[in-house]
Amino acid sequence: MRYDGPLGALRRHYTRLTQSLNFAAYAARPALTALSGAGRTPPAHPPHHAMGLTFRNPIGIAAGFDRRGLLAPYRDRLGFGHIELGTLCRYPQPGAYPGISTLARLRRHPSSDCPLGINIGLNPGRNPAQAQADLLYCQRVAWRVADYLCLNLGNANARWLLQPEHEAELNDTLRALTDQQRRLSAVNGRAVPLVVKLVLDLERPDRLPALPPILPLLPTFGIAGVVLALDRGKPVTAEKIHAWRQRTWQDLACELTRQGRALLGADTALIVVGGIGSEQDIRHRLNAGADLVQVHNGLLHSRRTLLDSLAKPYG
Ligand SMILES: Cc1cc2nc3c(=O)[nH]c(=O)nc-3n(C[C@H](O)[C@H](O)[C@H](O)COP(=O)(O)O)c2cc1C
Repeated sequence: MRYDGPLGALRRHYTRLTQSLNFAAYAARPALTALSGAGRTPPAHPPHHAMGLTFRNPIGIAAGFDRRGLLAPYRDRLGFGHIELGTLCRYPQPGAYPGISTLARLRRHPSSDCPLGINIGLNPGRNPAQAQADLLYCQRVAWRVADYLCLNLGNANARWLLQPEHEAELNDTLRALTDQQRRLSAVNGRAVPLVVKLVLDLERPDRLPALPPILPLLPTFGIAGVVLALDRGKPVTAEKIHAWRQRTWQDLACELTRQGRALLGADTALIVVGGIGSEQDIRHRLNAGADLVQVHNGLLHSRRTLLDSLAKPYG
């Protein structure tokens, strides 16, 4: 069978997977099989360029879908334009986040046009000094295999860094990460751009939330991109999935994408994730100013609509 490789890897690691990843990988199996031919034929879509990297198409798999990177070695065959592993933290957090040491078994694929993002985050209860040291550690470990690194400021373990009373510590941490990035680049000649993931909680389709105040400042720290996650919160219910199919929610997401683009300017990559379930959703987000988009729940719950509609325009 064509997908013995990736599926075999998933099965071997079965016991170590979270329930959601397990479900995700199995639910995506027909999709992966359907896409398996895509990596062997020239992509129908012209390559995208962002953050100094080349992406075969603008669609990536969001963090959380493949936290440990089981699909990473096979990513050229999946048909996506990038894949973001993680969130990985300095220390394993049993039942939730794997430790960054899980990357030890991965090799770098320098010639891939499906860049590998590695999403790094914090363990719970870290103080500002520990947080900075942990993130610097994760950056050093992930550097070897990552094409870009994503600092996850969106989950419960790290959101405190965005509170006004921690502004100085966040600024200091961002400077420390970009300083270390420059030093590592100087030593081994690879850039490994740093992006930041920010999560916006959406409550109602007619209520436009304010974008995080840090967003327009990120380019001044040397941050190459922002992953703007539009989130309806957990648990993911059928009602929420259905609501994303409605025009009002998609319009809200596009308006936030437009605002994000205007605040970031043209030189910083904008990667948008949240509620994407069809090729039309992707087109609208790209037209609204996103450079790249990511999918997660769409691969599970709107798989047929999404992948069928992507096959032709994106190979
Ligand atoms: C089960 C599950 C696990 C997730 N885990 C992570 C994670 O580890 N790190 C992260 O940055 N985002 C994580 N996310 C958030 C997704 O990357 C994405 O931002 C979110 O699901 C919105 O996109 P969607 O509407 O396409 O699902 C997770 C989402 C889900 C549903």
